[in-house]
Amino acid sequence: MTQTTSEPQVRRERARITVRTLRSDRWWLAPLLTFLGLMSFLVYGVWAIIDGSYFVDPYIAPFSSPCLATSCPEGARFLGFAPFGDWYTLPPGLLILGLPGGFRFTCYYYRKSYYRSFWLSPPACAVQEPHGKYTGEGRFPLILQNVHRYFFYAAIVIGLILAYDAVLALVHKPLGLGTWILIANAILINLYTLSCHSCRHITAGRLNHFSRHPLRYKAWTFVSKLNAKHQPLAWASMFSVMGADLYVRLVAKGIINFPYA
Ligand code: FES
Repeated sequence: MTQTTSEPQVRRERARITVRTLRSDRWWLAPLLTFLGLMSFLVYGVWAIIDGSYFVDPYIAPFSSPCLATSCPEGARFLGFAPFGDWYTLPPGLLILGLPGGFRFTCYYYRKSYYRSFWLSPPACAVQEPHGKYTGEGRFPLILQNVHRYFFYAAIVIGLILAYDAVLALVHKPLGLGTWILIANAILINLYTLSCHSCRHITAGRLNHFSRHPLRYKAWTFVSKLNAKHQPLAWASMFSVMGADLYVRLVAKGIINFPYA
């Protein structure tokens, strides 16, 4: 005797939902705040790069450091070094802008942020994006985001230079508020840099046996702990570099002028 089964056939197709999302929470708040935060950074950065008040001894504004043009005031030049001759007449900050800028622009966390808040691709989980097709980062132009690792190497150098600026300020003006602002900023910038996913991969990402590389394993463990805080460090260091930069410029302009400024 043959048995007949009457199991219903499962239709494997996507649910047909006509609305953009079924979410009823305030899913738009996070991308909106991210948009405002990143826009404030961009607008401030453009102003800071063209602003000429970037040095007041012993402070140098982080957006303009290292100062490498001959137009940089004497004490502002990094190690007295001015490789760009008199022919260079644009703001000195433009010379180095691409390194920290490129590092943040290609950062995994910032990528997620601006893909969501600027490109709306998608703006949030389970919210339909406005674009018809998705090409991802596997082809031009977004495949260029893979240069992040090389920006990481440059960011290590920039972080060390900001730390050097902070130490110089400490030596020459230990009681200055600006000194401590620069120190706090240098710490946050370097923590953000070390928490980078590329840094984690470089320390021990390709090892098969941690036990054979105890030092690299220790470094990887440390970086992994920082890496778990990459998002808050990205925001904290972004606001700290803006705050420190603005503070130095306000002191240089004479707008902040109390004795221990
Ligand atoms: Fe964010 Fe590298 S992943 S700085």
